[in-house]
This record gives sequence, C-alpha cells and structure tokens, in this order.
Amino acid sequence: MTQRRKLIAGNWKMNGLKAQLTEVSAIDALAAGRGDVDVALFVPATLIAAAAPLAPHMVIGGQDCHQAESGAYTGNVSAAMLVEAGARGTIVGHSERRAYQHESSADVAAKAAQAHKHGLQVVLCVGETLETREQGDDIAHAFVSDQLVASLPEGADPAWLVIAYEPVWAIGTGKVATPAQVAAMHKALRATLIKMLGEPAGNAMRILYGGSVSGDNAADLLHTDNVDGALVGGASLSAAKFAPIIAAA
Ligand code: PGA
Repeated sequence: MTQRRKLIAGNWKMNGLKAQLTEVSAIDALAAGRGDVDVALFVPATLIAAAAPLAPHMVIGGQDCHQAESGAYTGNVSAAMLVEAGARGTIVGHSERRAYQHESSADVAAKAAQAHKHGLQVVLCVGETLETREQGDDIAHAFVSDQLVASLPEGADPAWLVIAYEPVWAIGTGKVATPAQVAAMHKALRATLIKMLGEPAGNAMRILYGGSVSGDNAADLLHTDNVDGALVGGASLSAAKFAPIIAAA
C-alpha cells in the first residue's frame, strides 16, 4: 500500500487584499502545527510577494500561469513571474478558468509543463459538469479520465504534480459529492494514472478532492480511499474555517 502524504490546499480565487494577510500568518501557524501534512495556499498574484515571507511552513502559490515564457499576453502572469514573486506552486486547469477563459486540456498540459520548467509545484484540476454527471456515473468517470489524460503534461511526476478532482456542480454550491461518489471517481483516476505513468508513479501521485469542502464534511472525505487531500475554496479564506479541515487530515 503506497503511503501518500496528505495535502490540504486553499484557493483564494479573486479574494484577498493586504488586510487579509493576517489570515495567511494564522494559516501558516496551523501548518506549522501539522508537520505530518502538507499545506498550500493559492493566493491572488498581487498577494504572493507579501504572503510568501509570512508562510515558511507552507507553499504559497498562484492560481494559474501562462504557457508561454513571456510576450504579448495582456493580463496574464508567467511562471517566471510567479517564482520571482515568491511562489513555490500554482494551480492549473481550474474549472473556472476552463469555463470563463476557455482553456482547453491541451492548454492546461502546456501550463503545467511550463510551471514545472520553472520549478513550481503544480495542482492540476479536472472535473465534470452537472450535465455530464446526470448522464450517469460511468459516463462521468470516463469524461474526467479522458480530461485527465488530455491535461497531463509530458514527464508528469508525483514529485511535482498533484491532481485535484473537483466536480463543477460541487464548487461553491454547498453541494458536496458523497464519499461514495468521490471514492468511485478517485479509483477511476488512480487506474488512469497507473495506465499513463506506470505503477510506482501512478500510485504515488496524490489526488485531492475539491468542491464545498468544509469543517463539517472534511473528516469523511479525507478518510475516503484514494483521497490524498483537499482543494478548498470558500473555507480557506479564514484560518478559523480552514483549521478544522487541516485538523481532519
Ligand atoms: P469551494 O471551491 O471549496 O468554495 O467549493 C473549491 C475550488 O474551486 O477549488
């Protein structure tokens, strides 16, 4: 049985001004108290430089990076910029970016490769919409597995890449997937990873669950087979709400 260290990651999305940096310090203190669990916080790009020095016990990261090294891409942030600001990781392929910025799985794979080239840890998100889920569990499993295959970068390795399964219908809706639904999807994704990367790497890669994770449901979700952590939006905005999730890992 492969031992995978749990990762509890927060995604602040487009939330957070300097006034919220006290929460970063408080979350870092929670991370310091859990030497057996990895903690990461993906903050807005504008906060990375201020947040990184406050967070010696966790990874501070960005929420996206462009696949190009530099150039005429107004409004985008490059991997080198994230690193220079103090980031040690980034999310790629979040469903909000796939939906609103029309990012394809090929884009996501290129972004992951570019982030890795600059030494960043990468959390790569996949997940199905409600419409797909309603077509049945097998269809949802096949859809997300295909999305994962198409989004995996060349040379994907558990040393720097983590997968996050986030059903779109569970994000920010308070409608959390059941542990049984999560177990079945993560089992399918584990099989896909082993097929793509071989036994040791496919088994070692962490698969997080995300979508309305809270202090109330974290313990059940985090002790589900093949769930190696959580990617948390709303409940990561304050240390008080994030604390029980970190404690449950
Ligand atoms: P949520 O967001 O926890 O607010 O549902 C999760 C995510 O989108 O990463």
